[in-house]
Amino acid sequence: MTDPINSIREISLPQIHDPRGDLTFVEGERHVPFPIRRVYFLYNVPVDAERGGHAHRDLEQVVFALSGSFRMKIDDGKTKSEYWLRDPRKGLYINRLIWREMDSFSQGAVCMVLASHPYDESDYFRAYEDFIVAVNEGVK
Ligand code: TYD
Repeated sequence: MTDPINSIREISLPQIHDPRGDLTFVEGERHVPFPIRRVYFLYNVPVDAERGGHAHRDLEQVVFALSGSFRMKIDDGKTKSEYWLRDPRKGLYINRLIWREMDSFSQGAVCMVLASHPYDESDYFRAYEDFIVAVNEGVK
């Protein structure tokens, strides 16, 4: 996966292949570049739903499609790109100050997110204009 946005990158997790089924694991600060402080899932997502629509001041995340697929639209305030997540071993690392939107969820898709901090509403930019101001100011 090549990307014009620097901080965004694919993270490939190990796979232990076995006739009984495949096993994948993830360790904070080893496979993802931060200590994992929170894990959350999206599931039962209607196929026409849109999720995300925000950016974060400090939070780093890695997003996986554990089952099914969905699209992630990524915007660093200057460049936009998009990814399809469909492989449970391959996550998308998203740094701070990245606007993200998710849509086109397949039936039964499960999205897992590993996050660097506990939930904190004050860490969110929920208005795109506020996000752009922060990008331009380089604020934290
Ligand atoms: P939100 O981050 O807006 O969801 P998404 O990005 O997937 O569209 O969160 C939706 C709601 O859930 C919002 O009221 C905040 C709450 N929430 C928590 O309480 N804890 C969490 O860890 C997350 C991610 C959300």
